[in-house]
Amino acid sequence: MTDVFKGRLAILGMGYIGLPTAVAIATRGIDVIGVDVNPAAVAAVRRGEVPFVEPDLAVGVSGAVAMGRLTATTETPEADAFIIAVPTPFNEDRTADLSYVKAAAEQIAPMLRSGNIVVLESTSPPGTTQKVCDWIGALRPDLKMPRDGETGADIYVAHCPERVLPGRIMIEIITNDRVVGGLTPRCAEKAASIYRLFAQGEILLTDAASAEMAKLVENAYRDVNLAFANEISLISESLHIDVWEVIRLANRHPRVNILNPGPGVGGHCIPVDPWFIVSAAPQLSRLIRTAREVNDHRPHHVAAQVVEKAKRFRSPTVACLGLTFKANVDDVRESPAIEVVGLIAKALPEVDIFVSDPYVSVMPRQLSEYGNLRLEGAHQAVERADIVVLLVEHEPFKAMRHTRLGGKVIYDTRGAWH
Ligand SMILES: NC(=O)c1ccc[n+]([C@@H]2O[C@H](COP(=O)([O-])OP(=O)(O)OC[C@H]3O[C@@H](n4cnc5c(N)ncnc54)[C@H](O)[C@@H]3O)[C@@H](O)[C@H]2O)c1
Repeated sequence: MTDVFKGRLAILGMGYIGLPTAVAIATRGIDVIGVDVNPAAVAAVRRGEVPFVEPDLAVGVSGAVAMGRLTATTETPEADAFIIAVPTPFNEDRTADLSYVKAAAEQIAPMLRSGNIVVLESTSPPGTTQKVCDWIGALRPDLKMPRDGETGADIYVAHCPERVLPGRIMIEIITNDRVVGGLTPRCAEKAASIYRLFAQGEILLTDAASAEMAKLVENAYRDVNLAFANEISLISESLHIDVWEVIRLANRHPRVNILNPGPGVGGHCIPVDPWFIVSAAPQLSRLIRTAREVNDHRPHHVAAQVVEKAKRFRSPTVACLGLTFKANVDDVRESPAIEVVGLIAKALPEVDIFVSDPYVSVMPRQLSEYGNLRLEGAHQAVERADIVVLLVEHEPFKAMRHTRLGGKVIYDTRGAWH
């Protein structure tokens, strides 16, 4: 059976995931209501605007709003299907903070009618989709919740994790394969009917816990591979061997593909999600935990290297290029570049540090306490600096003329000027 969803759909969370998903569905002729607890996000969507930078999204939002297919509100409405795309950060002890997901489930519960579909898209530890069902069930004893091996449920609950790459979300949301895990096979089938509206990739049906775990494993896989690259960088540096040359040569092996090292691992997925696996099976996740620790140590190593280089000067000036967590996006969440800049500013309180990022116009809150930091245009920052630290390979930085960098001490943590 290959049903395609018809009806009204509400998406809770108008962020990097919820808003592109809303556009993808609204442009297939479905009425989509975007729900967000943040009135500024709702106001932006109502104006047809995007409150963050993501290529091709702005035109999609303004088009969907102008067509009347996409609306936004702070109040969860009645609908035929609900998608939850709210944050899942971690707590101080690195267990998942499911408070946003629980709040979303509790907002949906009073609005549910028999036949409705609820899909959790937020990245979640195994068992969370079942919890969503239980939270709803506790508030709606009148509805028959889906249970494995039983038929005749009133609502359908599933998990459909998101694996898009920021900067390419509008392409990947359409082209990526999707994993849809239901609490029952019927739940998976019902949830898949939503993704058939717009997904060109294959839709793979499974159970909810496997879908939850598959998403976490994808990011842990990336994290472990990045840790390997970062460790090779550390070792090569200590042996005075050029890591970029080593990786270039090793990658000519037909079955080797080492990733690029960097100043750390950022974004709010890869540094967070592996901890959900570690907290689910702490005794068994030794490699995944170590990879996290290796990657978390990177900003400290990079900052220490800059402090060492600064010792060569009587009164040095430092330029740090890049603050976002990766190139060509404005997302600063869990950015290792910010951590590096903070560590340098703290270690060198007497040193003027110019910070530049084409996507960041206000000094991030984590850095506001340092009086020796100043946001500058890239060219001015480089011109004034003795030491130039490349932290994010934004295109304008990559394109920077080598003549501008002449006579400076360069620390290229991304290999972009190699
Ligand atoms: N950003 C990514 O690239 C990416 C990729 C894959 C998976 N994910 C996962 O998707 C989920 C959402 O991430 P995001 O990047 O879109 O987050 P985001 O912070 O950009 O957006 C989340 C939005 O949810 C809103 N919100 C919070 N509680 C709410 C509630 N109870 N009701 C309605 N709205 C609420 C917030 O105000 C915010 O606007 C997370 O679990 C994340 O791990 C994100």
